[in-house]
Amino acid sequence: MAGPEKTYYITTPIYYVNDDPHIGHAYTTLACDVLARFKRLDGYDVKFLTGTDEHGQKVEKSALAAGMEPKAFTDKVSRNFRDLDALLNFSNDDFIRTTEERHYKAVQHLWRRLVERDQIYPGSYAGWYAVRDEAFYTEAELTKGPGGKNIAPSGAEVEWVEEPSYFFKLSEWQDRLLQFYEENPGFILPKSRRNEVTSFVKGGLLDLSVSRTAFKWGVPVPGGDNHIIYVWLDALTNYLTAVGYPQTDSGEYAAYWPADLHMVGKDILRFHAVYWPAFLMAAELPTPKRVFAHGWWTNEGRKISKSLGNVIKPCDLVEKYGVDQVRYFLLREVPFGNDGDFSHQAMVNRVNSELANDFGNLAQRTLSMIHKNCGAAVPDPGDLTEDDQALLAGVHGLLGALRGKMEVQAFNEALEAMWEQIRAANGYVDRQAPWKLKNDDPERMKTVLYALAETIRHMAILLQPFMPDSCARMLDQLGVKEGNRAFQHLGAGNALAPGTVLPKPEGVFPRYVEDDG
Ligand code: MSP
Repeated sequence: MAGPEKTYYITTPIYYVNDDPHIGHAYTTLACDVLARFKRLDGYDVKFLTGTDEHGQKVEKSALAAGMEPKAFTDKVSRNFRDLDALLNFSNDDFIRTTEERHYKAVQHLWRRLVERDQIYPGSYAGWYAVRDEAFYTEAELTKGPGGKNIAPSGAEVEWVEEPSYFFKLSEWQDRLLQFYEENPGFILPKSRRNEVTSFVKGGLLDLSVSRTAFKWGVPVPGGDNHIIYVWLDALTNYLTAVGYPQTDSGEYAAYWPADLHMVGKDILRFHAVYWPAFLMAAELPTPKRVFAHGWWTNEGRKISKSLGNVIKPCDLVEKYGVDQVRYFLLREVPFGNDGDFSHQAMVNRVNSELANDFGNLAQRTLSMIHKNCGAAVPDPGDLTEDDQALLAGVHGLLGALRGKMEVQAFNEALEAMWEQIRAANGYVDRQAPWKLKNDDPERMKTVLYALAETIRHMAILLQPFMPDSCARMLDQLGVKEGNRAFQHLGAGNALAPGTVLPKPEGVFPRYVEDDG
């Protein structure tokens, strides 16, 4: 039987294992998780990939500092990233590690392919290198830092490196890249980032050093001579490895490549939007459809850094506010693509006013009234008034609007569109005052409660990608079976069946109460 034809392949960057997971890692993967869940619920066959980037000088140094062999060290830290996936309820289909056999095979194959196409030549590199970024910089990009140290635009310290190296003919790809950006305006989002990349490429591209000899922790260059492959060429190839490359004629590569979306932070856009498509074009492989560069978080207005001691640990946030609350906040608080500031106050405001008050109360009020006044079963609606119809028309139109927002990764706008409906529903409750109808007009009360329950069913289905656990609990309370929770089950055709017996309602979104103890 043929599988579903709509496929969606989405990737996170693979994370350096020099550090424990922090809010930045959680943020990138969360954005991908929400898109992956959205697409699955919308009928796509999704592959969602994350993993760890385990080679290079930076990881080797961290292993050394921890007094461990690189492999033992990466085994340990990589596990922390898998734990992060479980903690935040990420639904990735695969977790790749660059130290895996399948990855060595893919990277070396891609290397040979580039050699065969005359894209790589031997030479020697003399220039600046920042271990923190694992990146080369030209003299012109540097500034002077404290103590006269040379500093890269990222803020990382650079060191002078001289060693034999293979080069990739990046300079040959300048015009093709510019043409590619021009023809594919959706390749780099947000738009402001596209301009940034375009001007970088227009400024001229130098050939790129793609092997190192100063240390050993990496994938060997095929053909020996003691070179290892530059960690970014190694790392970027993970997106191909995970779909079975070098096998290209069948299997996952045939189904999923090119990737629909590489999600990255703004700091690593250049690697994904310049080097990666150039490598792929040079290897005559299809290029990904989009790279989205999101912004960075600060903590209570300050840059997050280990030396400032203000690193935000995802496990602390989840413990304090709850997993779905954290997922909601991170994607609601700032327009995706912009930088954002984390503050306890902002978090509490969102949790209490939007989750507990707006959405939580709407569900709790409605379900409690049904429980008490309708024999704990979905009530039978009578004729719908204009007000009822307007409420339902609003939620029936939501999926179309959301698809448009999610297509361009506008998470905060998608959530805002949903909250407009939630607020509309709260206005409807106030106008209709079902608690009064209980005595005045019980039949009308049933119709009002039915319209509200249907509204909540829609909202809980549509919000699943953002808050999977809470929405599942809400759908349980509405008696919606697990097989009826995909987007195809929205709409009047799958409306709640009157008479369905409902469990005793329980609040799903508690208020955050300050612990003054
Ligand atoms: N290993 C490379 C990626 C290779 S992909 C082929 C790498 N790893 S990383 O561990 O440094 O990646 C970190 C990811 O977390 C990046 O997307 C980065 O933008 C993101 N963040 C790190 N700190 C961040 C914040 N303070 N805020 C938001 N995201 C940040 O780069």
